[in-house]
Amino acid sequence: MAQLLFCFLLTFAALGPFASEAAAPASLYNWMFLSVNDFTWSNCDGNWSGNIISLSVSPNPINIPGELTISIVLETTERLTAPTKIILTAKKKILLSWITLPCIDNIGSCTYDNICEVLDTSFPLGEPCPEPLHTYGIPCHCPFEAGVYSLPEATFTLPNVELPSWLTSGDYHVNAVIMADNQKFACANFTFFLGS
Ligand SMILES: *[C@@H]1O[C@H](CO)[C@@H](O)[C@H](O)[C@H]1NC(C)=O
Ligand SMILES: *[C@@H]1O[C@H](CO)[C@@H](O)[C@H](O)[C@H]1NC(C)=O
Repeated sequence: MAQLLFCFLLTFAALGPFASEAAAPASLYNWMFLSVNDFTWSNCDGNWSGNIISLSVSPNPINIPGELTISIVLETTERLTAPTKIILTAKKKILLSWITLPCIDNIGSCTYDNICEVLDTSFPLGEPCPEPLHTYGIPCHCPFEAGVYSLPEATFTLPNVELPSWLTSGDYHVNAVIMADNQKFACANFTFFLGS
C-alpha cells in the first residue's frame, strides 16, 4: 500500500511513473524548477477498506529537483489482491471552475490497470523490496494483507523531470480510487499548488 501510495504521490507531483524518469533528457534547456506547495490530503467520505491514517510530506514547498521527506501510515481492513486498479481524476482550477485534465503520457486523469503486475515488473519477485520498504517490512507485491502499514520518515531525491507543457502552475485537485475486483476499495483526495 505504501508503495502504491508513493506511486500516486509521484504522479500527483506530476513526476510520472518510475519508468519514464530515466527517459527525461538532461539538456540544460529542459531544466525546470518546480515546486509543490501546500499539499493536503483527506480520505473520501464513506466506509472504505483502505484508509490513510496519517501522511506528512515536507518541506513545504517540495522542490523538484530536490529532496522529499515522507511519512505515512496506511490501514486496510481487507486483503488487497489482484486484479487491482487505480483511477486518478485530476482537476485544475481555471478561473473559478475545476476543469478535469486528460490523461496524456501517463500523467493526468489516468487509470492504471493491473497494479499488481506493475509492481511485479518494477520489483523482481524473490528479491527483497527496495529500501526503505524492506527495513520497515512493507511488502511491494500483491497481495497486501489486512493490517497497518507504517513508513516512518523516509527521504527521497526527486530528479529533474520534464513536464508536459499543458501542466502549468496553479491549483490542482486529485481524486484517487483503488478498485479491487471491480469494487471501490479506497478513495482519497489530494490538493496542492504547482508552482514553477
Ligand atoms: C473527494 O473528491 C471527490 C471528487 O472530486 C468529491 O466528490 C468529494 O466530495 C471529495 N471528498 C472529500 C471528503 O473531500
Ligand atoms: C463498513 O464496511 C464493513 C465491510 O463491508 C462492515 O463490516 C462495517 O460494518 C461497515 N461499517 C460502517 C460504520 O458502516
